[in-house]
Amino acid sequence: MAEKVLVTREIPEAGLRVLEPFDVTVLHERPPERDELLAAVRGASGILSTATETMDEEVMDAAGEGLRVIANMAVGYDNVDVKAAGERDVVVTNTPGVLDETTADVAFMLMLAAARRLGEGERLLRAGTWEWWGPKQLMGRDVWGKRLGIVGFGRIGQAVGRRARGFGMEVLYHNRSRREEAEREVEARYMDLDELLDTADFISIHTPLTPETVHLIGAEELRRMKPETVLVNTSRGPVIDEAALADALAERRIFAAGLDVYENEPEVHPKLLELENLVLAPHIGSASVETREKMAALAAENLAAVLRGEEPKTPVNE
Ligand code: GLV
Repeated sequence: MAEKVLVTREIPEAGLRVLEPFDVTVLHERPPERDELLAAVRGASGILSTATETMDEEVMDAAGEGLRVIANMAVGYDNVDVKAAGERDVVVTNTPGVLDETTADVAFMLMLAAARRLGEGERLLRAGTWEWWGPKQLMGRDVWGKRLGIVGFGRIGQAVGRRARGFGMEVLYHNRSRREEAEREVEARYMDLDELLDTADFISIHTPLTPETVHLIGAEELRRMKPETVLVNTSRGPVIDEAALADALAERRIFAAGLDVYENEPEVHPKLLELENLVLAPHIGSASVETREKMAALAAENLAAVLRGEEPKTPVNE
């Protein structure tokens, strides 16, 4: 009998095709309610999850002893209790490598949109209140030629750095450990975090969410930034203290920000919604047709490999 696989959300066809040999249940487009997830997971050997589902002990125990793999369709896996999975001999996999360039595009999009005030301009047009071209109208900040500070110099951070070179930007980075090869390739300069916050004109966040990176950028860090600074986050919301960011933007202590991720998705801090100098996107970093197909396929291949007794391509635990 085919093994049971639960897919927690509707995913692109490319993923479902890989799972054809299994007895697959696909929930729906919206995230499942917790009770629904706990019921649906019963008897599953594999779960293909997304970042919106918390994969904790309770879910693993609800699945039962037959559970062997949780394949997360995301590069971030802060939603999965990897330790609890290990204790149950459950393999956890993610989808690194296939979404770097696409997410870097969105980081750059937010940098450009926030610096050049695209959101404000679009709101003006849509409100029908654009009266004339103005010599002092909507003056933003140049992106080209400026100093970009990248916090978290993994694959996505490096892809942002490569784009920045094309804009004639000077690239600085901070990372837990130095990345000398990438440093040479991107022509980036390593700095400690405080120095980077003090000197960068643009700051783009690319760290994973871990206990160490929660509120990595808080009131104190925002206070170090220059009034011209544009801050962008495409990693995970809790890396920035949203209340502190709202204050810094409201008081014009930094120039602007662009966010793709939020502390309590899908909620956005109400103060942020009132600000003009902020561009907001609904967690679309990897949301291109091409990349979501690759992510779905990779997650499904990882899941299928484990159920066939083979090594998955991109495990996060041993
Ligand atoms: C999306 O947020 C991901 O981690 O891939």
